Amino acid sequence: AGARIALTPAMGWNSWNCWGLSVSDAKVKASADAMVSKGLVSHGWTYINIDDGWERETRAANGEIVTNDKFPDMKKLADYVHDKGLKIGIYSSPGPRTCGGFLGSYQHELQDAKTYARWGIDYLKYDWCSYGNIAPKNPDLEALQKPYRVMQSAFKQIDRDIYFSLCQYGMGDVWKWGDHVGGNSWRTTGDIRDTWKSMSDIGFRQYISSPYAKPGNWNDPDMLVVGKVGWGPNLHNTRLSPDEQYTHISLWCLLSSPLLIGCDMSQLDDFTLSLLTNDEVLAVDQDPLGNQAKKVAEKGNIQIWAKNLEDGSKAVGIFNLGPKMTDADLDLSRLHRSGKQTLRDLWRQQDLGTFSGIYHAQHIPSHGVLLLKVSAARR
Ligand code: GLA
Repeated sequence: AGARIALTPAMGWNSWNCWGLSVSDAKVKASADAMVSKGLVSHGWTYINIDDGWERETRAANGEIVTNDKFPDMKKLADYVHDKGLKIGIYSSPGPRTCGGFLGSYQHELQDAKTYARWGIDYLKYDWCSYGNIAPKNPDLEALQKPYRVMQSAFKQIDRDIYFSLCQYGMGDVWKWGDHVGGNSWRTTGDIRDTWKSMSDIGFRQYISSPYAKPGNWNDPDMLVVGKVGWGPNLHNTRLSPDEQYTHISLWCLLSSPLLIGCDMSQLDDFTLSLLTNDEVLAVDQDPLGNQAKKVAEKGNIQIWAKNLEDGSKAVGIFNLGPKMTDADLDLSRLHRSGKQTLRDLWRQQDLGTFSGIYHAQHIPSHGVLLLKVSAARR
């Protein structure tokens, strides 16, 4: 281990927001199949991540972690995913139990890291959960970091580079130290739900963590709630409206967030597919500079967020958090020092023209967004 990985935010699928604890080998394979057959793979989507629910309740006699009946052979499953040109992720907890009550890695960290490497695992989501019963009551920074350091050191001893995703819900301002314990990303919040309140509460609070994102180390405001979700066998269409979904994806891309699709991939509808395959929008997330957007203006229900891009331009989201369609002014002189700016609407993939001073954006829908690329006009 030792290569630099996650130089841009991870893009993939995770089983949790869809299948919850009812995830299975067949469902994971179906997701990998869909990733390829629906063409997502050619837009940068790579990871197939198994969340909680794959583990048995007890270890083998030699202490090894073993899969439950829903996962007959993890190594074979990893081979299956790899053969499609994709990567595979898994989930554990530093505590004795996961959030779902299955086995965690407590006191078996190195053994588990070795098992993951043997299976060919590429990504580990490591969830605080029952470690809370082991840590002191009001854990200080050192206590919060300890279990992640243990796994970080185990990862250094294996011959495989595994993406390390910390899941401890933003405790101790994890954005300030997630990289010190080897995290490639870290959850900044509790669990997301497929409602405007949940998604917007989480997303529009992420200015706190903005200064800390960089290539290899990302803030993670949790997974995407688009398409058919449900946390178990009863799936429903996301309760986010189409405009709320444009806001969700735009904001997560501006935030340089890992993009982990949380829906049933075998039931992807055309709208969801169009959300997930707009290369100009995804390029905002994957920009190699690795800057995270900051909130640059707020007036009434309008928030403007801007992200520096590697080519010197900016990605700008003009968000309407209010209940009615409205216009909004974008002060271009505050984004770039001077001169004329070329504006491009990224969702529509259309140039809007060249402007200076104030750009008057019209008809931004309720809970919707205008996502722009703003570049200095060629003289
Ligand atoms: C926690 C995490 C979720 C998911 C579940 C699994 O709630 O935050 O993302 O991994 O545990 O039990």
